[in-house]
Amino acid sequence: MSDITKTEILNTLKNVNDPRIKKELLILNSIKKIETNGKNLLVDIVLPLSPSEVNDDLKNKFIKEIKEDFSDIKNVKVNIETKVSVHKDKNKDSLLPDVKNTIAVASGKGGVGKSMVAVNLAVALAKDGANVGLIDADIYGPSIPLMLGIKEKPKVYQNQQTMKMIPLESYGIKLISIGLLVDDNAPVIWRGPMASGAVKQFMTDVDWGELDYLIFDMPPGTGDIQLTLVQTIPLTGAVIVTTPQEVSLIDARKALKMFTRVNVPVLGVIENMSYFIAPDTGKKYDIFGNGGGAKLSEELKAHFLGGIPIEPKIRAGGDKGIPIVFDTPDLEHAKIIMTIARNLAQQVHLRNLTADSKIEILLDNEE
Ligand SMILES: Nc1ncnc2c1ncn2[C@@H]1O[C@H](COP(=O)(O)OP(=O)(O)O)[C@@H](O)[C@H]1O
Ligand SMILES: [Mg+2]
Repeated sequence: MSDITKTEILNTLKNVNDPRIKKELLILNSIKKIETNGKNLLVDIVLPLSPSEVNDDLKNKFIKEIKEDFSDIKNVKVNIETKVSVHKDKNKDSLLPDVKNTIAVASGKGGVGKSMVAVNLAVALAKDGANVGLIDADIYGPSIPLMLGIKEKPKVYQNQQTMKMIPLESYGIKLISIGLLVDDNAPVIWRGPMASGAVKQFMTDVDWGELDYLIFDMPPGTGDIQLTLVQTIPLTGAVIVTTPQEVSLIDARKALKMFTRVNVPVLGVIENMSYFIAPDTGKKYDIFGNGGGAKLSEELKAHFLGGIPIEPKIRAGGDKGIPIVFDTPDLEHAKIIMTIARNLAQQVHLRNLTADSKIEILLDNEE
């Protein structure tokens, strides 16, 4: 009886249905330890970062399921360790050795809410306990300092032979914006060639410290500038933001193709401005159409991370410089963004597991 295997435990854990955790995350390697004397059972599991109330809930479901499947076991203890996995990549290791994952937030078109999504995802991941950095690489409209209420310029210090920039900090994240360094009135034609140089510098000359996620707010579109940037940044993956309407979807499709062409995995699609709920009547209006993001994800075999409604408080938060997940965390739209951030964290984890799966399985010993 004392020789319960990881595989048996894993099969039991997989019986638990919880919409907040993808079953693909439960692989042999996520079970770090099992210990049993026939009566007592201890299981250590590693999962991507999520808040303790979600983990506590999951833990109880796991325990219940194990007790049902193994009737001789009287006491079950499940520990869930949360950990952000590392995207292993030579380029990333040389440019950003202390950054575990890099994520591009991109869109085919401007004005779809890409910066709003980038800011709120960054703050949401940080709220769940991750170390997060944000690079505003949108040379056409660097709006992140405004959305985070930042006015000062980053400070610089001398480190042996090189100068290092200290990122600014706001709402628990570190950030740097091209907008803090480039004059607003500089012509775009001059900013274009500068973009990849500046972004490279943001990666090497900014003192980021250790980060779980470094998020890039990319310039919208799929032209040369965007392509150069995508090839400059060693990306774990990309997130595409679109509205549900066809004109936005057409460009989102192009963005998705640009990433796959250069072998950057698309971690998911986020639909923004999905619908509007009238505050007086509670009636739902599909202002820009319905279901476009989900349809696009299906068509292009990308994961649908979720849809964010049109909400005047989101716009107001952006203008005030207070991200919605921080300002009004209990409102529905903030909760939706928190869920999207957790879905994204799971996709990153899955991507890293898949990339390493050969090694992981070889290293895994049945106990
Ligand atoms: N879901 C939403 N509800 C209300 N306003 C939004 C929403 N998404 C974005 N906005 C607002 O729309 C404007 C454009 O969004 P932004 O993130 O700057 O777009 P992009 O970076 O794609 O150009 C901003 O003022 C932003 O606050
Ligand atoms: Mg923007």
